[in-house]
Amino acid sequence: MKHNIIPHSKPTISKKECIVAAKVIASGMLAQGKYVKSFESAVANYIGVKDGVATSSGTAALHLALLALGVGRGDEVLIPTYVCTALLNAIKYVDATLKLVDVNWCDGNINAREAKKRVTKKTKAIIVPHMFGMPANITELKKLGVPIIEDLAQSIGATFNGKKVGTFGDIAICSFYATKMMTTGEGGMVLSNSRAMLNKIRDLRDYDNKISYALRFNYKMTDIQAVLGIEQLKQLNNFIKRRRMIARMYDQQLGTDTGICPQCELPRRRKGRGNVYFRYVIKVSGSAVSIIKKLRAQGIYAASPIFKPLHSYLQQKGFPIADKLMQHAISLPIYPSLTDKGSKRIISAVKE
Ligand SMILES: Cc1ncc(COP(=O)(O)O)c(C=O)c1O
Repeated sequence: MKHNIIPHSKPTISKKECIVAAKVIASGMLAQGKYVKSFESAVANYIGVKDGVATSSGTAALHLALLALGVGRGDEVLIPTYVCTALLNAIKYVDATLKLVDVNWCDGNINAREAKKRVTKKTKAIIVPHMFGMPANITELKKLGVPIIEDLAQSIGATFNGKKVGTFGDIAICSFYATKMMTTGEGGMVLSNSRAMLNKIRDLRDYDNKISYALRFNYKMTDIQAVLGIEQLKQLNNFIKRRRMIARMYDQQLGTDTGICPQCELPRRRKGRGNVYFRYVIKVSGSAVSIIKKLRAQGIYAASPIFKPLHSYLQQKGFPIADKLMQHAISLPIYPSLTDKGSKRIISAVKE
């Protein structure tokens, strides 16, 4: 039997967004302008920080955040190994030294105890992505006494003890790539309470019309993207609500306590952490790859949560939890427009 494909992720774009984006295009004012400024204020307001600087991507935002913290050659930066290569690239862009850290089995987030072991006098920053929508243990990570860049690429709207992630570190970054919690196609933002850092980032983002020369970048966002972002942000809380509803369905139908799926470990709920379920990651006792293949054969595009951990690219060893997650973790489709019918199809395929 032929099935409709259920993709792994899908942006939720309404007619309103198409209309507002078309209006900006028709206006002829396409590049960075008033909508970028409004989008920056709106996101900063939503998170609860002073201001934001919109960028062309999350990677650009990470690059500028490292520069704002003064990270450069000879400095060390801690990051988890179980992430995409964007973090590795940003550290390479500033010519700093990378120190990889293993992650937690329960949520895939950077392990604070392992991070502590890797802090030296040269450690200038730690990038903390709140992975898959679940806040990392920011209280323990703050105790390391190292400047923190919170990475909200997968977790805008998530909360830790009632406060939004992005308000705990020295600086935070977002990504608005097409698959993210909300999207501008491509895009990102740096957020902070420090006016000095925000001014520095604003200066570095635009290269033109400056009194004196310094190496700067073209990391600007367009007004077409920003107007889309403004509309997406208005819907973000509803997107999160729908993601949580789907997660509850998965919890109830796949839960080990029901005895239905004893070989399947579900995302753990943790006290004080408001997960936004960017991903719904399950762990199976057998091989994740073979189950992903079986689901694909039924038109269900589940995936490994991470394509390849950074230590594998760099041929480093000693990250047993990340290695185990690579063997057993599966990210099931979850996105606001996934219907109840679609979720039920996923549930019954996983049970099978
Ligand atoms: C945790 C994390 N940080 C940063 C990025 C980079 O964002 P972008 O693709 O917008 O450059 C991603 C992208 O997937 C991500 O997952």
